[in-house]
Amino acid sequence: MAGFEEKDGILHAEGVSLEMIAQEVGTPTYVYSAASIRSQFEALQSVMADALPADRQPLLCYACKANSNLAILSLLKNLGSSIETVSEGELRRALKVGFDLEKIVCEGVGKSESEIKLGLEAGIHQFNVESLGELELINRIAESLGKTAKVVFRLNPDIRGGGFDKISTGQKHNKFGLSKEKVFEGYNRAKEMSHVEALGLFTHVGSQVWQTEVFEQLFKTLAATTGELRAAGHTVSRIDIGGGFPIQYKDEKLLDLKAYAKWVNDIIVPLDVEIILEPGRYMVGNAGVLLSRVLYEKESHERNFLILDAGMNDLIRPALYDAYHGIEPVSNRRAPAKTYDIAGPICESSDVFAAERSIPAMQPGELIAIKSAGAYGFVMASNYNTHSLPAEVIVDGNKYAVIRKRQSLDDIIDGDIIPDWLGS
Ligand code: LLP
Repeated sequence: MAGFEEKDGILHAEGVSLEMIAQEVGTPTYVYSAASIRSQFEALQSVMADALPADRQPLLCYACKANSNLAILSLLKNLGSSIETVSEGELRRALKVGFDLEKIVCEGVGKSESEIKLGLEAGIHQFNVESLGELELINRIAESLGKTAKVVFRLNPDIRGGGFDKISTGQKHNKFGLSKEKVFEGYNRAKEMSHVEALGLFTHVGSQVWQTEVFEQLFKTLAATTGELRAAGHTVSRIDIGGGFPIQYKDEKLLDLKAYAKWVNDIIVPLDVEIILEPGRYMVGNAGVLLSRVLYEKESHERNFLILDAGMNDLIRPALYDAYHGIEPVSNRRAPAKTYDIAGPICESSDVFAAERSIPAMQPGELIAIKSAGAYGFVMASNYNTHSLPAEVIVDGNKYAVIRKRQSLDDIIDGDIIPDWLGS
């Protein structure tokens, strides 16, 4: 795993020992490798640079839902990335980090009034419109601010993408996007509106999309729809082809990025449009581990459980999606293998990171790393069972820094209010 390697028998994040981080910051803690994020960004950029003409290079808008820590955003911004946001909160993060306002893409199936207002005031690149009601609202708010909103319509192409159902978004039963007929209706309505300018299309058919043929089919659908829209007199000057690039969690087949880029070049480039990409997981997924400590080992009914201090409240992917994450001890990495159910402290049977997983035998008190946790890890963490949100650390070479302090229990508990009339 890039960025995480064993040195002197101890798992390190770049030049920094995970044992040291646990000692200084405690556990559970997310640890990210800056070098790994840099190399992912540069890899995607260079695949595109090789395949697409210089004047058709895509605008890379990092989908910050994957990991929205300000330090990670700042690192990506400095690499030249733009950003895609899906809430007022994410947009505020983007503004705080100082992304180029004119390149920010605002997505989201339920955009709020205040989010639309903030985006318009900031002068963002575009709103990816998900419904005709949203289009009306954007027009109304833009009018009240004396601005013109640039919009593209999210096309739901009824194409199955995504590594598994819960992260597939492009089929007709999914809540995302609009049918082709509704996109036409949107374009027609936009023509009658005074404060929106309809400029193109957006699609995102899912996450962890490794099936190469999905993108080819998607691009052909986009090209055909573009042709039909133009024939009807509409402008299509931008196409946002979303994200979905897969990473390796175990031994999955990965998308052939060169083939992907070639299809962009062969199918999208001839449309003479500005091209936008929204990669999330690809940028950060393999760049993070969740560092945890073994609290107990227990044997019961012929199963061996390792109980960790990290749980589904810290990393929900295994519980929510049955997702696989590699798991390794931080030290004693050559111990004889033993088979465990590796679980958290939460009172739920689904709070299990791995069932019947063979790893080097571990003892209570030892450290363990749950891998490929850089995307959809911390951002999906919760306070379930009144556990604190974990700390986050970034490593760059031999340097490291806490980029989010561990939440205190007081912070959680003090948020509750007992009304006087209920009695104390
Ligand atoms: N653009 C849009 C509109 C999206 O909805 C998403 C992801 C992305 C871009 C970035 O997709 P990526 O490149 O990361 O695949 N929590 C799930 C993943 C949900 C993805 C939601 N949308 C997981 O842990 O696997």
